[in-house]
Order: sequence, then structure tokens, then C-alpha cells
Amino acid sequence: MAAKAASGMAAPSTNGRAYEVTDHEFDVVVVGAGGAGLRAALGASQAGLRTACVTKVFPTRSHTVAAQGGISASLGNMGKDDWRWHMYDTVKGSDWLGDQDAIEYLTRNAPEAVYELEHWGVPFSRTDEGKIYQRPFGGMTTDYGEGPPAQRTCAAADRTGHAMLHTMYGQALRHSTEFFIEYFAIDLIMEDGACRGVIALNLDDGTLHRFRAHKSVLATGGHGRTYFSCTSAHICTGDGNAMVLRAGLPLQDMEFVQFHPTGIYGVGVLITEGARGEGGYLTNSEGERFMERYAPSAKDLASRDVVSRAMTIEIREGRGIGAESDHMHLHLEHLDPAILAERLPGISESAKIFSGVDVTREPIPVLPTVHYNMGGIPTNFHGEVLTKAGGDPDAVVPGLMAVGEAACVSVHGANRLGSNSLIDLVVFGRAAGQLCADTVTAGDAHPALPADADDMALSRLDAARHADGATPTAELRARMQKVMQTNCAVFRTGEVLEEGKDLIHEVWAGSDDVKVSDRTLIWNTDLIETLEYDNLIAQAVVTMDSAVGRTESRGAHAREDYPDRDDVNWMKHTLAFVDFDTRKIRLDDRPVHAHTLSNDVQYIKPKKRVY
Ligand code: FUM
Repeated sequence: MAAKAASGMAAPSTNGRAYEVTDHEFDVVVVGAGGAGLRAALGASQAGLRTACVTKVFPTRSHTVAAQGGISASLGNMGKDDWRWHMYDTVKGSDWLGDQDAIEYLTRNAPEAVYELEHWGVPFSRTDEGKIYQRPFGGMTTDYGEGPPAQRTCAAADRTGHAMLHTMYGQALRHSTEFFIEYFAIDLIMEDGACRGVIALNLDDGTLHRFRAHKSVLATGGHGRTYFSCTSAHICTGDGNAMVLRAGLPLQDMEFVQFHPTGIYGVGVLITEGARGEGGYLTNSEGERFMERYAPSAKDLASRDVVSRAMTIEIREGRGIGAESDHMHLHLEHLDPAILAERLPGISESAKIFSGVDVTREPIPVLPTVHYNMGGIPTNFHGEVLTKAGGDPDAVVPGLMAVGEAACVSVHGANRLGSNSLIDLVVFGRAAGQLCADTVTAGDAHPALPADADDMALSRLDAARHADGATPTAELRARMQKVMQTNCAVFRTGEVLEEGKDLIHEVWAGSDDVKVSDRTLIWNTDLIETLEYDNLIAQAVVTMDSAVGRTESRGAHAREDYPDRDDVNWMKHTLAFVDFDTRKIRLDDRPVHAHTLSNDVQYIKPKKRVY
């Protein structure tokens, strides 16, 4: 086996092939059971393909369950709307880094995807006429930004993700998706540049499983846990992204990390943007509604990058709240308590539990908190993973697909609009299921695998299991999270990023000294956290290196030393490759798609982005 595993953990003498591996053959394997994974698995199953869904947590505990405010689609239930306006807002929100063919696909197909959810049983909140209730969200407008805010975000109170996840899990079971629950995917099985499946560890009994499939769909979510304070669940370790890096494939646009303006101060728990959609507003220590100065038109409902920057500036300039002048207030106490109880029950409860605040009486202390990764595994809008093989930026990796936050389609570009993530999950999850249906024949035989097919996964597992250094995984993880929080934050400079690059590479090098105290394969949380850390650190490093590389400001990547967007040099996607032997990152790029899908849809030309 290679001298080093992915994070550099020292290799033990045990040969990986000593493990027994149970074989499974499926037409399709989906890794991850959040909204995108379930939708993809459901589509493939509906098409009669034998589909496995491998998930490290029980499906309804996937992070989609935490999505609150809603799912965007131009249903027009609460005023005039048009998918073309949704497309315009998404392109503008992306700061022109989104691929416009994919954005057209997303926004055009959004209404149908929401009606499909409704028909499956998602308990959407309702208008008086019984239509799906829609609330305003940041950056969502009418008439190509010229009209009033759009009410486009379809909501099930403030528990929309929870409702969707439970409904889709039921539908997937109904269509006979085969679930492998609490199985941790270790690595892809790659052969000559094509993906043949995945290797996973059954946490419950320590057995290893080889899932062979004609299509492997990574739906493993984001990597918010590279940071210290985030709204992401502890499971958000970007496992699929790291598998892709280890397979020698790139990640795209990793420098774009979204800070949600309203994480609860001190704990990072999400307070939905829907709170501002329902009339909530932010104030500084002077009681001023400061967003009026930064976004005179959209105010508190400007896009997230704009609001997070404004809050950060207020704090820096000494107008923060509290003993340390380090947060802002979100006011809901002026709203009708009946509306709060009906439309925002979840965040009312979170505010009480996590900050001791009764939202009907007092403001919630909030702070921008890491929330979403715009970057991830590059794909086209069918979910096929892109590489740059042979210099072709649209070349696909045979057999490998990605959807959801793990993927970078790219529809969110440099900044995602709130409620565009849930629609991304179902529109592209559905497209991926459809691609499987169109390209895989049920029951087709699997080609023989080469003798070393499992080596990457098994040697990685073996190295982690026998890691006997002196540094606990938790310590390495904490160091990584602190560096990312400090050196790759809302505002960035070359100097701070360069320091961050040195520090994060130091943490990575320190991974050689990791200590895993328990050798068992059964419910070994130390081992799993080490494998997750190993996934996280690779993504932290490419995030930092990509951020150093992009010398402009665009969307969530705000460089104080390069304050302007630079379309001449930087209207392109960053690609980051990792050489795990030398621990070197190689940056490359691919062009932004400057075309739409349909002849009757105009390319939206770049212009200054103001709200
Ligand atoms: O604020 C929220 O409810 C989050 C929604 C989203 O990230 O799309």
C-alpha cells in the first residue's frame, strides 16, 4: 500500500487486502440520503433500476432536515411571478459566476418539482384559498429586479426541509429503493478514469461492503464543519468531495463559502431568512436599521453576502451589540404573535432554547455564520461529474455523478440565494435519476474489477485504524476549524489568506501524528471522526488555496485588497486538484457557461450588482 493515506496518516504493515468485503451489485448506488440523494434514488428506482442508497445516518436525520425557510419556485401564488425573473435573480445572486444553462434548467423546472412534492404529500403551509404559501426571501424580485420583492419561497412553516425529507423517504421506500443505513462510504472504486462503485463500512457490525454500480451518485452534502461556527450538522464533512479529490478529480469554486447573516450568537444555530421575509429586521447597538444604508432598496432582504458583510462592517466600526460589541439584533417582537406561532414556530423555539429569548418580547442576538458551500464537485445539469481530461472542460467522468450541496452545477456561482438550495436538491436530484433511467439498462452485467480495485479504500481505512501518533483527532479538527474561521472569513486579504494557507497546510502535515485509540471496526466513533477529519482537512486546504488564488471580489469571496469584481480575468470557475503524496494543490479553471439552454432565453449580461 502507498506510504501515506490521504491525510498522511502513517501506513501500517497490514495489507488492506486482509479485509473481507461483501459484494453487492446494483444498477445505481446513491451515497447520501438528504433531499438530493433521496430524489435521485427515487427517480432511479421509479425507472425500474435496482438502486441502493448508502447513508451514514438514518435518512430523516440527513442535514436537509434542518432546512427551514423554504423552497423557491415561481408559482405566483402570492403575486405575479415568472421563472425568467427567478433566473435573473439567481444569475445576479451568483454574481455572474453561475452557469446560465444550468440556471435556466433550475428555474424553469422549479414549479413542476414543487408540485411533485405537493402531490407526494409535503404538508406545505397554505394561503386562505388553499394554495401553497410563499414568502419573500433575499434577492428574490419581480420584473428582472425592477419590481417589488417576489414572494417565491414555498414554505412548510419554518420546517420545510423536515417535511420534504420525510415525504421523500416514504416515497423512496414505496418505490423499493434499498437503504443501507449507517454505512460510512470510504472511497470510490475507480478503474481507468471511470467509477465502478463505492466501498463502505457498516458501522453497526464493522463489515465492509463493495457496492458495484453502473452509476454512482454522490449526494454527500457540504463541508460546513471545516469551520468552527456553522449552521451545518456535525455530519456535514463533505465525504463525497474528498473521495473525488482522492480519485484525482478536481473540486470547483471552493473559495465561495456562504455566511448566513443570522446564526444565533455563540451557538451558530440557524434563524431562517424567512424571519426577515415575514417582516423581521436587523439593528446595531445604536438601534439603527443599518441595512438601509447598505442596500437601500432590498434592505434586510438583500442577498446573504451583502447582509453578512454589512453586519461585519457594523461590528468592526464599533456598532456591535453586547459586552464585546460583537453581534447584531434580529427583531421579531413587533410581529403578531399568532403569525410567529403559525409561520415561525421552529425558530421561536430555537431562540428560546439557545439564547433564552422570547421572540414575542425581545430581539435575538445574531451573527453571520458559515451556512453553505457554493463550491463542490463540478457537474453538468444532468448530474454528471466533470473533469478536465484532455483539456476539455465539459468532459465527464464515466459512471460518476453528484447532486445537492456536494455538487457545483454551477447554479449558485459566487453566492447562493436563500431557498435556492432546496429547489436545487429536487430539480437536479430528479435530473440525475432521469439520466440514470436514460443511460442504464436494468440488470446489465458488471465488468470484472481489477485486483487492486479496493486498495484505495482499504489502505485508507487500515491507516486510520492503526494511526498511533500522539495528537487526538479532535485536536487536529479544532485547529483546522479555528484557522478556517480566522483566516478565511467574510472579508479576506492576501496577507490573512497567505497566513491561513501556511497554517492550514501545517495542520494537514500534523495529521501524520494522528492518534486513533480504538482499533475495532464496530461503532468506533474515533475511527469515523478520523476518516471524517481526513475528508475535511483536504477540503479546508483546497478552500484556502483557492481563496488565495482568486484575486478579485465576487459574491461571498470579498477580498479587501481586490475590492472589485474582475470579469476580464476572473469570470471563470476555479478547479483545485490535490496531489496527496506531495500535499500540493494545483489550481486550474474552466469557463463559466455564457449560454442558455433555449434559443428563446437571452443570456443575462453582467452588470454591477446592487440591491
Ligand atoms: O434561512 C433559511 O431558511 C435557509 C434557507 C436556505 O439556506 O436556503
